[in-house]
Amino acid sequence: NDNQTALIMIFGATGDLAKRKLFPSLYKLFEKDKLSKNFAVIGVARRPLTNDEFQQSIKESVKTAIEKEDRIDEFASHFYYHSHDVTDSASYAALKNMASDLDNHYQLNGNRIFYLAMAPEFFGSIALHLKSDGLTDVRGFKRLVIEKPFGHDLESAKELNDQIRTAFSEDEIYRIDHYLGKEMVQNIEVIRFANAIFEPLWNSRFISNIQVTSSEILGVEERGRYYENSGALRDMVQNHLLQMVALLAMEPPIRLNTEEIRSEKVKVLRALRPIEGEEVNKYFVRGQYDEGTINGKTVPSYRQEPMVAENSNTETFVAGKLLIDNFRWAGVPFYIRTGKRMAAKSTKIVIQFKDVPMNLYYQTEQPLNPNLLVIHIQPEEGVTIHLNAKKAGTGMEATPIKLNYANKGIDGINTPEAYEKLLYDCMRGDATNFTHWDEVALSWSFTDKISDVWENHVDESFPNYKSGTMGPKCSDELLEKDGYFWWPVTNLEVNDK
Ligand code: BG6
Repeated sequence: NDNQTALIMIFGATGDLAKRKLFPSLYKLFEKDKLSKNFAVIGVARRPLTNDEFQQSIKESVKTAIEKEDRIDEFASHFYYHSHDVTDSASYAALKNMASDLDNHYQLNGNRIFYLAMAPEFFGSIALHLKSDGLTDVRGFKRLVIEKPFGHDLESAKELNDQIRTAFSEDEIYRIDHYLGKEMVQNIEVIRFANAIFEPLWNSRFISNIQVTSSEILGVEERGRYYENSGALRDMVQNHLLQMVALLAMEPPIRLNTEEIRSEKVKVLRALRPIEGEEVNKYFVRGQYDEGTINGKTVPSYRQEPMVAENSNTETFVAGKLLIDNFRWAGVPFYIRTGKRMAAKSTKIVIQFKDVPMNLYYQTEQPLNPNLLVIHIQPEEGVTIHLNAKKAGTGMEATPIKLNYANKGIDGINTPEAYEKLLYDCMRGDATNFTHWDEVALSWSFTDKISDVWENHVDESFPNYKSGTMGPKCSDELLEKDGYFWWPVTNLEVNDK
């Protein structure tokens, strides 16, 4: 059944995520008839709003995000608002009544999705109230969708997990990692397992190193308060980057279902070599952006951003070398890097193969390029294979060539946004592209060992990279030590423009 029926309660309905991502994504599902006529949404947030005012705000947020808006009134009529006090049982009781009425009115079979899209400090107590005040007592399914950050470290993540587990079982919990909703992140698996030519080479005998970059042009914007407590390691590495590494490194699952894929990803995370104590600064480097120029404009340093300490020790850039101690990957470095205020907005994976045993083409101007498989996650989507071929002409020289596939998405339109896919998965009860507790816990235990060292040492080199560059020098040195370099994120091009 493609058509999904449920009551969706969005906590944090007046927030940025709801407006920018959730409402437009729900509209797209509605427009494609993937949401049945039997659905209703209760927006839950603190400020007082009438249903009419809420519906008006839905229309506005949807309009800015879509092209066709013919069914917008019909869509918005399914939205209701509840002004809520997250600590007050009476407020939950009122929400419960509203939910039962809507359940009857729209014939929702008692199916409920609770979406927590608000300040994480309330996640645990909301979950406890949902249970104690009877909102999870339903005939149909109940599911909890929870945004990041899932805790601040392993200990706080455990505490949060224990709280939500009192009200929801593990298979009712959908922990969002929006990278898992990205088209090309989902494609990693298909490229690996639907082709005969990669898998035989996908190991330490043929791959020399793998590079995962997720760079951003934006700074911390208005999120200084959150980011000061987070930093790039917690914000990006603990979740998005380690998830991509797990997908790249995992064994083929025996079946394409949630449990099998998860269990393969978990094995990768278990095989990650822990980096701790004195090793940390050998395997990981950090950076913080200084002033610089982006698109011709001067931008301030991190320490000048709102809500940021003027001597902040928070990293806005991380690069690291991961080793996966299992049979397939022994000795193959997985280099990762991510940062804000870098030269490009780009997420790319470069798989670098080992060199041919001997080079017969010494007369070429440059040494032979290694073969690369590049997976372009964003902003362009596609795959490029870098090969060597004969240079046209009389001689027998080799020259680099590229085979390029630009993903044009479905029917030539934009590929669906991550949130659209993830919401739809949740409604269908498919948790494959969400993170299981085991993955969250293993990832925190890996990054906690690094944070422990960094938080106890002030990095005197901060700020150590200019805005608009690809990060500090120590990031390049990390690879140079091993005889490698970061492949530039531009010039591996997928766009045939
Ligand atoms: C979020 C981080 O999880 O991912 C942000 O909290 C970051 O700091 C964002 O900007 C990047 O996501 P995307 O989809 O723009 O690459």
